Amino acid sequence: MSLANSPAVPPSNAPGAARNARFAEFPTGALLPITTRPELVFTHGKGGWLYDHEGKRYLDFIQGWAVNSLGHCHPVMRDALATQGALLLNPSPAFYNGPMIELADLLATLSGLGKVFFANSGAEANESAIKLARKWGQLHPNASGGARYEIITFRNGFHGRTLATMSASGKPGWDTIFAPQVPGFPKAELNDLASVEALIGPDTVAVMLEPIQGEAGVVPATTTFLKELRALTQARGLLLIVDEVQTGCGRTGTLFAHQQAGIVPDIMTLGKGIGGGVPLAAMLCADELAVFQPGDQGGTYNGNPLMCAVGLAVMRTVSAPGFLEFVRAQADYLSAGLQHLSSKYGGEGERGAGLLRALLLGRDIGPQLVEAARDMAPDGLLLNSARPNLLRFMPALNVSREEIDQMLSMLDTLLAKHV
Ligand SMILES: Cc1ncc(COP(=O)(O)O)c(C=O)c1O
Repeated sequence: MSLANSPAVPPSNAPGAARNARFAEFPTGALLPITTRPELVFTHGKGGWLYDHEGKRYLDFIQGWAVNSLGHCHPVMRDALATQGALLLNPSPAFYNGPMIELADLLATLSGLGKVFFANSGAEANESAIKLARKWGQLHPNASGGARYEIITFRNGFHGRTLATMSASGKPGWDTIFAPQVPGFPKAELNDLASVEALIGPDTVAVMLEPIQGEAGVVPATTTFLKELRALTQARGLLLIVDEVQTGCGRTGTLFAHQQAGIVPDIMTLGKGIGGGVPLAAMLCADELAVFQPGDQGGTYNGNPLMCAVGLAVMRTVSAPGFLEFVRAQADYLSAGLQHLSSKYGGEGERGAGLLRALLLGRDIGPQLVEAARDMAPDGLLLNSARPNLLRFMPALNVSREEIDQMLSMLDTLLAKHV
Protein backbone atom coordinates (compact mmCIF):
# COMPACT_ATOMS: atom_id res chain seq x y z
CA MET A 1 0.00 0.00 0.00
CA SER A 2 1.27 3.46 -0.79
CA LEU A 3 1.67 5.70 2.21
CA ALA A 4 1.21 8.79 0.12
CA ASN A 5 -2.49 8.40 -0.57
CA SER A 6 -3.81 8.47 2.96
CA PRO A 7 -5.15 12.00 3.34
CA ALA A 8 -7.71 11.30 0.60
CA VAL A 9 -9.03 8.14 2.26
CA PRO A 10 -12.36 8.58 4.08
CA PRO A 11 -12.02 8.27 7.86
CA SER A 12 -12.47 4.79 9.32
CA ASN A 13 -14.73 6.19 11.97
CA ALA A 14 -17.43 6.93 9.40
CA PRO A 15 -20.56 5.00 10.39
CA GLY A 16 -20.19 1.29 9.63
CA ALA A 17 -16.47 1.40 8.78
CA ALA A 18 -14.37 -1.46 10.12
CA ARG A 19 -11.60 -0.24 12.44
CA ASN A 20 -8.15 -0.39 10.85
CA ALA A 21 -9.54 -2.61 8.12
CA ARG A 22 -6.64 -1.74 5.79
CA PHE A 23 -3.82 -2.24 8.26
CA ALA A 24 -3.26 -5.87 7.21
CA GLU A 25 -2.28 -4.65 3.73
CA PHE A 26 0.93 -3.08 5.06
CA PRO A 27 3.91 -5.47 4.93
CA THR A 28 4.96 -4.77 8.52
CA GLY A 29 6.48 -8.24 9.04
CA ALA A 30 10.01 -7.24 8.03
CA LEU A 31 10.33 -4.89 11.00
CA LEU A 32 12.15 -6.44 13.93
CA PRO A 33 9.64 -6.35 16.76
CA ILE A 34 11.05 -4.13 19.52
CA THR A 35 7.82 -2.81 20.96
CA THR A 36 4.08 -3.44 20.77
CA ARG A 37 2.85 -1.01 18.16
CA PRO A 38 -0.85 -0.24 17.62
CA GLU A 39 -2.27 -1.16 14.22
CA LEU A 40 -1.85 2.33 12.82
CA VAL A 41 0.49 3.75 10.21
CA PHE A 42 1.03 7.46 10.62
CA THR A 43 1.28 9.29 7.33
CA HIS A 44 1.56 12.98 8.11
CA GLY A 45 1.45 15.53 10.87
CA LYS A 46 0.77 19.22 11.29
CA GLY A 47 1.39 21.16 14.49
CA GLY A 48 -0.43 19.36 17.29
CA TRP A 49 -2.04 16.74 15.08
CA LEU A 50 -1.03 13.38 13.59
CA TYR A 51 -2.94 11.57 10.83
CA ASP A 52 -3.12 7.83 10.27
CA HIS A 53 -3.47 5.63 7.18
CA GLU A 54 -7.23 5.89 7.31
CA GLY A 55 -7.31 9.65 7.62
CA LYS A 56 -8.23 9.68 11.31
CA ARG A 57 -6.55 12.50 13.20
CA TYR A 58 -5.03 12.37 16.68
CA LEU A 59 -4.32 15.22 19.07
CA ASP A 60 -0.69 14.56 19.94
CA PHE A 61 0.36 15.08 23.57
CA ILE A 62 3.37 12.77 23.15
CA GLN A 63 5.07 14.59 20.26
CA GLY A 64 7.69 11.94 19.57
CA TRP A 65 8.39 11.53 23.31
CA ALA A 66 9.05 15.19 24.10
CA VAL A 67 10.95 15.60 20.85
CA ASN A 68 8.87 17.78 18.50
CA SER A 69 9.40 21.09 20.30
CA LEU A 70 7.56 23.02 17.60
CA GLY A 71 4.97 20.36 16.74
CA HIS A 72 4.84 18.34 13.55
CA CYS A 73 6.50 19.75 10.42
CA HIS A 74 6.90 23.35 11.59
CA PRO A 75 7.65 25.76 8.71
CA VAL A 76 11.00 26.90 10.18
CA MET A 77 12.17 23.28 10.21
CA ARG A 78 10.82 22.54 6.75
CA ASP A 79 12.57 25.65 5.42
CA ALA A 80 15.84 24.73 7.14
CA LEU A 81 15.69 21.19 5.70
CA ALA A 82 14.89 22.42 2.19
CA THR A 83 17.49 25.19 2.18
CA GLN A 84 20.29 23.15 3.71
CA GLY A 85 19.27 20.05 1.74
CA ALA A 86 19.97 21.94 -1.47
CA LEU A 87 23.34 23.21 -0.25
CA LEU A 88 25.31 20.55 1.61
CA LEU A 89 24.37 17.34 3.40
CA ASN A 90 27.58 15.88 4.76
CA PRO A 91 31.13 17.05 4.12
CA SER A 92 32.36 14.66 6.93
CA PRO A 93 32.80 15.45 10.61
CA ALA A 94 36.50 15.96 9.93
CA PHE A 95 35.68 19.32 8.29
CA TYR A 96 33.95 22.44 9.56
CA ASN A 97 30.56 23.38 8.16
CA GLY A 98 28.51 26.55 8.66
CA PRO A 99 25.47 25.23 10.61
CA MET A 100 27.75 23.20 12.93
CA ILE A 101 29.72 26.33 13.83
CA GLU A 102 26.66 28.54 14.23
CA LEU A 103 24.73 26.06 16.38
CA ALA A 104 27.70 25.35 18.65
CA ASP A 105 28.21 29.08 19.11
CA LEU A 106 24.51 29.62 19.91
CA LEU A 107 24.41 26.72 22.41
CA ALA A 108 27.58 27.92 24.13
CA THR A 109 26.12 31.42 24.45
CA LEU A 110 22.75 30.18 25.72
CA SER A 111 24.17 27.71 28.23
CA GLY A 112 27.37 29.36 29.46
CA LEU A 113 29.20 26.07 28.74
CA GLY A 114 31.91 26.92 26.28
CA LYS A 115 32.44 23.67 24.33
CA VAL A 116 29.96 21.61 22.30
CA PHE A 117 30.17 18.13 20.80
CA PHE A 118 27.33 17.08 18.49
CA ALA A 119 25.83 13.59 18.49
CA ASN A 120 22.84 11.86 16.94
CA SER A 121 20.90 10.65 19.98
CA GLY A 122 20.57 11.30 23.67
CA ALA A 123 22.30 8.03 24.51
CA GLU A 124 25.25 8.96 22.32
CA ALA A 125 25.52 12.39 23.95
CA ASN A 126 25.52 10.68 27.36
CA GLU A 127 28.19 8.22 26.21
CA SER A 128 30.30 11.25 25.33
CA ALA A 129 29.73 12.74 28.77
CA ILE A 130 30.77 9.43 30.39
CA LYS A 131 33.89 9.22 28.22
CA LEU A 132 34.79 12.85 28.91
CA ALA A 133 34.41 12.35 32.66
CA ARG A 134 36.56 9.19 32.56
CA LYS A 135 39.21 10.99 30.51
CA TRP A 136 39.20 13.86 32.99
CA GLY A 137 39.48 11.29 35.81
CA GLN A 138 42.63 9.90 34.16
CA LEU A 139 44.12 13.38 34.03
CA HIS A 140 43.06 14.10 37.63
CA PRO A 141 43.81 10.79 39.40
CA ASN A 142 43.15 9.90 43.04
CA ALA A 143 45.67 10.14 45.87
CA SER A 144 47.19 6.77 44.92
CA GLY A 145 47.63 7.89 41.33
CA GLY A 146 44.77 5.71 40.03
CA ALA A 147 42.47 6.94 37.28
CA ARG A 148 39.07 7.92 38.63
CA TYR A 149 36.21 6.44 36.62
CA GLU A 150 33.14 5.87 38.79
CA ILE A 151 30.09 7.98 38.04
CA ILE A 152 27.37 8.00 40.68
CA THR A 153 23.94 7.83 39.04
CA PHE A 154 20.43 7.38 40.45
CA ARG A 155 17.83 4.69 40.98
CA ASN A 156 15.08 4.93 38.40
CA GLY A 157 17.18 7.25 36.25
CA PHE A 158 17.19 6.89 32.47
CA HIS A 159 20.15 7.76 30.27
CA GLY A 160 19.69 5.71 27.09
CA ARG A 161 19.94 2.26 25.55
CA THR A 162 23.61 1.76 24.72
CA LEU A 163 25.37 -0.64 27.08
CA ALA A 164 27.09 2.12 29.07
CA THR A 165 24.00 4.32 29.29
CA MET A 166 21.84 1.33 30.27
CA SER A 167 24.36 0.64 33.02
CA ALA A 168 24.20 4.28 34.08
CA SER A 169 20.39 4.06 34.15
CA GLY A 170 18.62 2.87 37.25
CA LYS A 171 15.63 1.33 35.51
CA PRO A 172 14.51 -1.77 37.37
CA GLY A 173 15.61 -4.94 35.54
CA TRP A 174 18.20 -3.23 33.35
CA ASP A 175 21.08 -4.52 35.48
CA THR A 176 20.52 -8.07 34.24
CA ILE A 177 18.86 -7.80 30.83
CA PHE A 178 22.13 -7.66 28.83
CA ALA A 179 24.54 -8.68 31.58
CA PRO A 180 27.33 -8.07 32.26
CA GLN A 181 26.88 -4.35 32.76
CA VAL A 182 29.50 -1.73 32.09
CA PRO A 183 31.03 -1.27 35.58
CA GLY A 184 31.40 2.00 37.42
CA PHE A 185 27.88 3.33 37.96
CA PRO A 186 26.89 2.99 41.64
CA LYS A 187 23.30 4.08 42.30
CA ALA A 188 22.17 6.71 44.78
CA GLU A 189 18.64 7.77 45.75
CA LEU A 190 17.28 10.93 44.11
CA ASN A 191 16.83 13.83 46.58
CA ASP A 192 18.91 12.03 49.23
CA LEU A 193 22.30 13.71 49.55
CA ALA A 194 23.53 11.25 52.20
CA SER A 195 23.03 8.39 49.73
CA VAL A 196 25.34 10.19 47.29
CA GLU A 197 27.94 10.98 49.94
CA ALA A 198 27.97 7.35 51.06
CA LEU A 199 28.98 6.23 47.54
CA ILE A 200 31.87 8.66 47.04
CA GLY A 201 35.15 6.75 47.04
CA PRO A 202 38.69 7.13 45.67
CA ASP A 203 37.55 6.14 42.16
CA THR A 204 34.60 8.53 41.96
CA VAL A 205 34.92 11.13 39.23
CA ALA A 206 31.38 12.47 38.71
CA VAL A 207 27.71 12.48 39.61
CA MET A 208 25.19 12.32 36.78
CA LEU A 209 21.44 12.96 36.98
CA GLU A 210 18.32 14.14 35.21
CA PRO A 211 16.92 17.36 36.75
CA ILE A 212 13.54 15.67 36.36
CA GLN A 213 13.43 11.88 35.96
CA GLY A 214 11.16 11.75 32.93
CA GLU A 215 10.89 8.03 32.20
CA ALA A 216 10.48 7.33 35.93
CA GLY A 217 7.22 9.30 35.81
CA VAL A 218 8.24 12.98 35.89
CA VAL A 219 9.96 12.89 39.29
CA PRO A 220 11.79 16.19 39.95
CA ALA A 221 15.10 16.58 41.74
CA THR A 222 14.33 19.28 44.30
CA THR A 223 15.99 22.68 44.09
CA THR A 224 17.58 22.09 47.50
CA PHE A 225 18.98 18.74 46.38
CA LEU A 226 20.43 20.20 43.15
CA LYS A 227 22.05 23.06 45.05
CA GLU A 228 23.47 20.72 47.71
CA LEU A 229 24.69 18.30 45.06
CA ARG A 230 26.46 21.11 43.23
CA ALA A 231 28.13 22.21 46.46
CA LEU A 232 29.08 18.63 47.37
CA THR A 233 30.57 17.82 43.97
CA GLN A 234 32.57 21.05 44.02
CA ALA A 235 33.84 20.38 47.55
CA ARG A 236 34.88 16.80 46.70
CA GLY A 237 36.47 17.56 43.30
CA LEU A 238 33.80 15.74 41.30
CA LEU A 239 32.13 16.71 38.04
CA LEU A 240 28.39 17.32 37.92
CA ILE A 241 26.75 16.01 34.74
CA VAL A 242 23.14 16.94 34.02
CA ASP A 243 21.27 14.87 31.48
CA GLU A 244 18.85 17.38 29.95
CA VAL A 245 17.95 15.18 27.00
CA GLN A 246 14.29 15.29 28.01
CA THR A 247 14.18 18.46 30.13
CA GLY A 248 16.31 20.77 27.98
CA CYS A 249 15.59 23.22 25.15
CA GLY A 250 12.60 24.94 26.74
CA ARG A 251 10.62 21.84 27.77
CA THR A 252 10.40 22.83 31.45
CA GLY A 253 9.76 26.55 30.87
CA THR A 254 13.39 27.67 31.03
CA LEU A 255 15.95 26.87 28.35
CA PHE A 256 17.55 24.29 30.63
CA ALA A 257 15.88 22.80 33.72
CA HIS A 258 18.94 23.12 35.98
CA GLN A 259 18.73 26.92 35.61
CA GLN A 260 15.64 26.85 37.82
CA ALA A 261 17.83 25.70 40.70
CA GLY A 262 20.40 28.43 39.98
CA ILE A 263 23.25 25.95 39.47
CA VAL A 264 25.82 25.56 36.71
CA PRO A 265 26.83 21.98 35.84
CA ASP A 266 30.23 20.98 34.46
CA ILE A 267 28.72 18.89 31.66
CA MET A 268 25.24 18.93 30.13
CA THR A 269 23.71 16.65 27.52
CA LEU A 270 20.89 17.60 25.16
CA GLY A 271 18.84 15.52 22.74
CA LYS A 272 15.19 15.16 21.81
CA GLY A 273 13.90 18.77 21.66
CA ILE A 274 17.12 20.25 20.24
CA GLY A 275 16.36 18.76 16.84
CA GLY A 276 12.59 19.22 17.06
CA GLY A 277 12.13 15.77 15.48
CA VAL A 278 15.36 15.11 13.58
CA PRO A 279 18.24 13.06 15.05
CA LEU A 280 20.42 15.61 16.79
CA ALA A 281 21.96 15.69 20.25
CA ALA A 282 24.82 17.47 21.97
CA MET A 283 27.19 17.29 24.87
CA LEU A 284 28.32 20.60 26.32
CA CYS A 285 31.10 21.16 28.81
CA ALA A 286 32.99 23.93 30.52
CA ASP A 287 36.07 25.12 28.59
CA GLU A 288 38.51 23.62 31.09
CA LEU A 289 36.96 20.19 30.60
CA ALA A 290 37.75 20.04 26.89
CA VAL A 291 40.23 17.19 27.43
CA PHE A 292 39.51 14.93 24.44
CA GLN A 293 42.55 14.43 22.23
CA PRO A 294 42.03 14.02 18.46
CA GLY A 295 40.71 10.50 17.93
CA ASP A 296 39.20 10.06 21.41
CA GLN A 297 35.67 10.83 20.29
CA GLY A 298 33.84 11.25 17.00
CA GLY A 299 31.20 9.75 14.75
CA THR A 300 30.34 9.73 11.04
CA TYR A 301 27.26 11.94 11.25
CA ASN A 302 28.25 14.12 14.18
CA GLY A 303 27.73 17.79 13.41
CA ASN A 304 26.38 17.18 9.93
CA PRO A 305 25.03 20.41 8.43
CA LEU A 306 21.54 19.10 7.65
CA MET A 307 20.68 18.26 11.27
CA CYS A 308 22.57 21.26 12.65
CA ALA A 309 20.65 23.61 10.33
CA VAL A 310 17.38 22.23 11.73
CA GLY A 311 18.70 22.45 15.31
CA LEU A 312 19.67 26.06 14.67
CA ALA A 313 16.14 26.87 13.44
CA VAL A 314 14.61 25.16 16.48
CA MET A 315 16.95 26.73 19.04
CA ARG A 316 16.57 30.21 17.52
CA THR A 317 12.80 29.85 17.76
CA VAL A 318 12.80 28.49 21.30
CA SER A 319 15.22 31.16 22.55
CA ALA A 320 13.47 34.06 20.79
CA PRO A 321 12.00 36.76 23.07
CA GLY A 322 8.61 35.74 24.48
CA PHE A 323 8.77 32.04 23.57
CA LEU A 324 9.58 30.70 27.04
CA GLU A 325 7.05 33.05 28.66
CA PHE A 326 4.49 31.46 26.34
CA VAL A 327 5.61 27.95 27.37
CA ARG A 328 5.23 28.89 31.05
CA ALA A 329 1.76 30.35 30.49
CA GLN A 330 0.60 27.24 28.63
CA ALA A 331 2.15 25.07 31.35
CA ASP A 332 0.23 26.91 34.09
CA TYR A 333 -2.97 26.48 32.11
CA LEU A 334 -2.35 22.76 31.54
CA SER A 335 -1.38 22.27 35.18
CA ALA A 336 -4.59 23.95 36.41
CA GLY A 337 -6.69 21.83 34.05
CA LEU A 338 -5.01 18.62 35.21
CA GLN A 339 -5.43 19.59 38.86
CA HIS A 340 -9.12 20.20 38.23
CA LEU A 341 -9.54 16.75 36.65
CA SER A 342 -7.60 15.17 39.48
CA SER A 343 -9.92 16.69 42.10
CA LYS A 344 -12.99 15.80 40.06
CA TYR A 345 -12.03 12.13 39.79
CA GLY A 346 -10.28 11.62 43.11
CA GLY A 347 -6.72 11.36 41.75
CA GLU A 348 -3.49 12.21 43.52
CA GLY A 349 -2.79 15.54 41.83
CA GLU A 350 -0.31 16.45 39.13
CA ARG A 351 3.35 17.41 39.00
CA GLY A 352 6.12 18.48 36.67
CA ALA A 353 7.68 21.61 35.27
CA GLY A 354 6.72 23.52 32.15
CA LEU A 355 5.28 21.24 29.51
CA LEU A 356 6.60 18.03 31.04
CA ARG A 357 3.83 17.01 33.41
CA ALA A 358 2.23 13.95 34.94
CA LEU A 359 -1.29 13.32 36.19
CA LEU A 360 -1.21 10.97 39.17
CA LEU A 361 -4.15 8.64 38.76
CA GLY A 362 -3.99 6.90 42.13
CA ARG A 363 -4.57 3.54 40.45
CA ASP A 364 -2.90 1.50 37.71
CA ILE A 365 -5.14 2.47 34.80
CA GLY A 366 -2.60 4.45 32.74
CA PRO A 367 -2.07 1.91 29.93
CA GLN A 368 -5.82 1.33 29.67
CA LEU A 369 -6.44 5.08 29.35
CA VAL A 370 -3.72 5.40 26.69
CA GLU A 371 -5.46 2.80 24.52
CA ALA A 372 -8.94 4.18 25.07
CA ALA A 373 -7.68 7.71 24.27
CA ARG A 374 -6.18 6.53 20.98
CA ASP A 375 -9.40 4.76 20.02
CA MET A 376 -11.67 7.75 20.69
CA ALA A 377 -13.72 9.01 17.75
CA PRO A 378 -13.99 11.07 15.68
CA ASP A 379 -10.56 12.31 16.88
CA GLY A 380 -8.10 10.20 18.84
CA LEU A 381 -5.78 11.44 21.57
CA LEU A 382 -2.16 10.34 21.98
CA LEU A 383 -1.05 10.08 25.59
CA ASN A 384 1.77 8.26 27.38
CA SER A 385 1.76 6.33 30.62
CA ALA A 386 5.38 6.36 31.81
CA ARG A 387 4.25 4.39 34.89
CA PRO A 388 0.94 2.49 35.18
CA ASN A 389 -0.35 4.87 37.85
CA LEU A 390 0.14 8.07 35.87
CA LEU A 391 -0.16 9.79 32.52
CA ARG A 392 2.69 11.90 31.15
CA PHE A 393 2.06 15.00 29.00
CA MET A 394 4.71 16.27 26.56
CA PRO A 395 2.90 18.47 24.03
CA ALA A 396 4.61 20.72 21.51
CA LEU A 397 6.01 23.81 23.23
CA ASN A 398 3.80 25.97 21.00
CA VAL A 399 0.63 24.06 21.96
CA SER A 400 -2.45 26.30 21.84
CA ARG A 401 -5.05 26.88 24.58
CA GLU A 402 -7.64 25.35 22.28
CA GLU A 403 -5.56 22.18 21.99
CA ILE A 404 -5.10 22.03 25.76
CA ASP A 405 -8.86 22.54 26.23
CA GLN A 406 -9.64 19.82 23.70
CA MET A 407 -7.21 17.39 25.36
CA LEU A 408 -8.66 18.12 28.81
CA SER A 409 -12.19 17.63 27.57
CA MET A 410 -11.27 14.30 25.92
CA LEU A 411 -9.49 13.22 29.09
CA ASP A 412 -12.54 14.22 31.14
CA THR A 413 -14.71 11.94 28.97
CA LEU A 414 -12.21 9.10 29.35
CA LEU A 415 -11.87 9.44 33.11
CA ALA A 416 -15.66 9.54 33.49
CA LYS A 417 -15.75 6.10 31.80
CA HIS A 418 -12.72 4.47 33.34
CA VAL A 419 -12.45 5.70 36.92
C1 LIG B 1 16.81 11.76 30.21
C2 LIG B 1 17.08 10.94 28.99
N1 LIG B 1 18.35 10.68 28.65
C3 LIG B 1 18.65 9.97 27.55
C4 LIG B 1 17.67 9.47 26.73
C5 LIG B 1 18.04 8.68 25.52
O1 LIG B 1 17.85 9.43 24.39
P1 LIG B 1 17.83 8.71 22.95
O2 LIG B 1 16.61 7.85 22.93
O3 LIG B 1 17.77 9.84 21.97
O4 LIG B 1 19.07 7.91 22.85
C6 LIG B 1 16.33 9.72 27.04
C7 LIG B 1 15.26 9.18 26.21
O5 LIG B 1 14.11 9.08 26.60
C8 LIG B 1 16.02 10.47 28.20
O6 LIG B 1 14.77 10.73 28.56
